[in-house]
Amino acid sequence: MAFQEQYFKHKDGQYEPALASDRPKKRKTTPFSYERFEKHVKFVLVEVVPKLVKFLAMCTQFYVVNFVRLFLPAQQKSIRGQVVLVTGGANGLGKALCERFAKEGCSVAVADIDLISAQKTAKELQQQGVKANAFKVDVADHKSVAQLRQDIEQSLGPVDVLVNNAGLLAMLSLSEGTPEDVQRILGVNLVSHFWTIREFKAGMVKRRRGHIVAISSVLGVLPSARTICYCSTKFGVRGLMAALNEELYMDGLEKDIHTSCVFPAGIITRKQFVDFMTHDLGLQIPWHTPEYVANVIVQGVLENKTEIVPSTAPVRFLIRYYDMLPRAMLRIGGEALFGKLPALTPKVQ
Ligand SMILES: NC(=O)c1ccc[n+]([C@@H]2O[C@H](COP(=O)([O-])OP(=O)(O)OC[C@H]3O[C@@H](n4cnc5c(N)ncnc54)[C@H](O)[C@@H]3O)[C@@H](O)[C@H]2O)c1
Repeated sequence: MAFQEQYFKHKDGQYEPALASDRPKKRKTTPFSYERFEKHVKFVLVEVVPKLVKFLAMCTQFYVVNFVRLFLPAQQKSIRGQVVLVTGGANGLGKALCERFAKEGCSVAVADIDLISAQKTAKELQQQGVKANAFKVDVADHKSVAQLRQDIEQSLGPVDVLVNNAGLLAMLSLSEGTPEDVQRILGVNLVSHFWTIREFKAGMVKRRRGHIVAISSVLGVLPSARTICYCSTKFGVRGLMAALNEELYMDGLEKDIHTSCVFPAGIITRKQFVDFMTHDLGLQIPWHTPEYVANVIVQGVLENKTEIVPSTAPVRFLIRYYDMLPRAMLRIGGEALFGKLPALTPKVQ
């Protein structure tokens, strides 16, 4: 069976285990000879040392440039006249992003499953003289996303800035919700990014211009009990964006197509969600207005930042250094701040 077919055209009982002898063969150890020793020394001096020196020089240059940049105003690009697509753009953070991108002089595609609210948002933008249109889309459905690309290109032109914002803040843990609920959260929060990036990246590559933004969450870095499903999707988005960034670099596109992964803390958006988190659970986390978060995100996009944390200094510190901090210490801190979280959904199966 061909390499790919073994996974996509499964055939019962055709599994072929690899043998230890399939590993690349180790070179045989041969007795010491001055000739070979000379060859190795030459190799190290001619091949390895110059590359090592070049690497160290590049690192020094990197540190010096970044140190100097600390004291200079950040360089900003202009996105005036570019077409921005915001998924989930009708309400909440998405709406604030549409308004903030419009202030930068962009045309705005407000794409949402909630067409009525999307039309309302687009109309408000049009009344301010902004070129904006509303589009209905279910980001979890590949066909719907492909149709969205055609519709936007016909009415506003090709998309330069893709903002993958649509997401379900359904806080299900491992055994909560129906299997369909779980699939839906994975579909909307994670798989949708594959469909939108596939659809819109090709045009960016052709025009050698673009920016892809993904809204992850602090829960894409900090693992949290009681929200295993949501956490997994937001960790997934972080991984997807980091790997995409590497691929753009490998393909020589890192100067043309930029990526930004965003890690917000609490945002005061959907009433039922905020009421549940603050009143029912009494969670003491930093809450920000959607306008503040959108402003930090657009500023980060203008500065081509690969990671954006639109929150307070302690949250920014935690996101940057989380992996280096002892887990036990973090647990004690988390419990002191939030106590022990109860199950967040009554829909326990
Ligand atoms: N609110 C927070 O505290 C918070 C914190 C961290 C991260 N985030 C992330 O920010 C993003 C926006 O969150 P929000 O608080 O504005 O959410 P929200 O629920 O207020 O708004 C989400 C929007 O997405 C739309 N949407 C939902 N499913 C869709 C689908 N299948 N296709 C197209 N549109 C769809 C909704 O109609 C709505 O307009 C999400 O990705 C969320 O995970 C939010």
